[in-house]
Amino acid sequence: MKFETKAIHVGEEPKLKEDGSGDVVIPIHLSSTFARAKVDKPTGGYEYSRTGNPTRGALEKRLASLENAGFGLAFSSGLAAETVLCSTLLKSGDHVIAFDDLYSGTKRLFNTLFSRNFNIEFSYVDARDTGNIKGAIKENTRLIWLETPTNPLMKLCDLKAIAEIAREWNILTAVDNTFMSPFFQRPLELGIDMVVHSTTKYLNGHSDSVGGAIMLSDDEIYDKLKFNQNAIGAILSPFDSFLVLRGIKTLALRMERHTKNAIEIARYLESQPNVKRVYYPGLESHPQYELAKRQMSGSGGMISFEIVGGLKEARRFLEGLKIFSLAESLGGVESLIEHPAMMTHASIPKKDREKIGISDSLIRISVGIEDITDLVDDLDQALQGVE
Ligand SMILES: Cc1ncc(COP(=O)(O)O)c(C=O)c1O
Repeated sequence: MKFETKAIHVGEEPKLKEDGSGDVVIPIHLSSTFARAKVDKPTGGYEYSRTGNPTRGALEKRLASLENAGFGLAFSSGLAAETVLCSTLLKSGDHVIAFDDLYSGTKRLFNTLFSRNFNIEFSYVDARDTGNIKGAIKENTRLIWLETPTNPLMKLCDLKAIAEIAREWNILTAVDNTFMSPFFQRPLELGIDMVVHSTTKYLNGHSDSVGGAIMLSDDEIYDKLKFNQNAIGAILSPFDSFLVLRGIKTLALRMERHTKNAIEIARYLESQPNVKRVYYPGLESHPQYELAKRQMSGSGGMISFEIVGGLKEARRFLEGLKIFSLAESLGGVESLIEHPAMMTHASIPKKDREKIGISDSLIRISVGIEDITDLVDDLDQALQGVE
């Protein structure tokens, strides 16, 4: 099956009853426990809903199929997925190499819980240059953690090249694929070991569910992660599983439209005198445009840009918008806009933010699927209002 067909059918094949009828859409199985016929073995494979649930199971099957993975696991948030992955595969004294531009919540998790409490060492490097990854490898390096494009500066890293280095050194690799979704980028096909998603974003796509996922093909690692999904208990609820299953059905259509709108907005912004710089991998001006074309089949709906001026100008622009909601998060059908330094990335100290390029004039847009002229008109009236 091709991507669009899998996104609609995998995990939700109707099971016909004796009278020939059957649900086309999987029911939301709310039962917390499942009755069995015999003491020694659960009937039908389910015993307790934290351990396994039919609605979550359907989603996990679909998630795996989209990344062309052997296995999928669904969690209560993207950060819960990251927590289970790291606490399963790392132990005290291990070393992790991570991209220096990451979603700030991931950095907070690494720098507080895993670094301070569990004595895991993190080296943050500019992974745009694969040599920096190579240079940071130590004897105790166990994991390389990547995002591409990064949040919010849209930096890319070469997944195939990094996967090759990691294999040579017997180091595991994980990629947060939230920004691209499996529709535009499939890291496992490039040799990466594990993919992580915040399903809160494009996979669900409607800003009404918080969730996370891990997809992978190694059965030994899967068994360990599945064990800890149950042992830690940070599972996705049946209702949220249903929402994400429903959202995924339109993922391909949405991603195409997000990209079409984003390209027009990125070009519009580039032409504006009070825009200093636009960060979007679909623009020829992006320094890694060639890598973007090779590694991704589309450029997605996330754009960052720097407004001329600083905080005062950014604030005036953001508060002048009418259709774009000033809100954190991304990947929903509605256009959102935010100020990373004061909102999503405020937890990173100012000097560290500035070192990687998150200035007070930086603005991030999650381009929705509304009518493009309405979106450009709204940006235009707010930009004119700044001058
Ligand atoms: C790229 C990326 N990864 C992970 C997360 C964390 O996901 P969640 O908010 O579902 O825990 C986010 C949240 O914004 C994100 O943008």
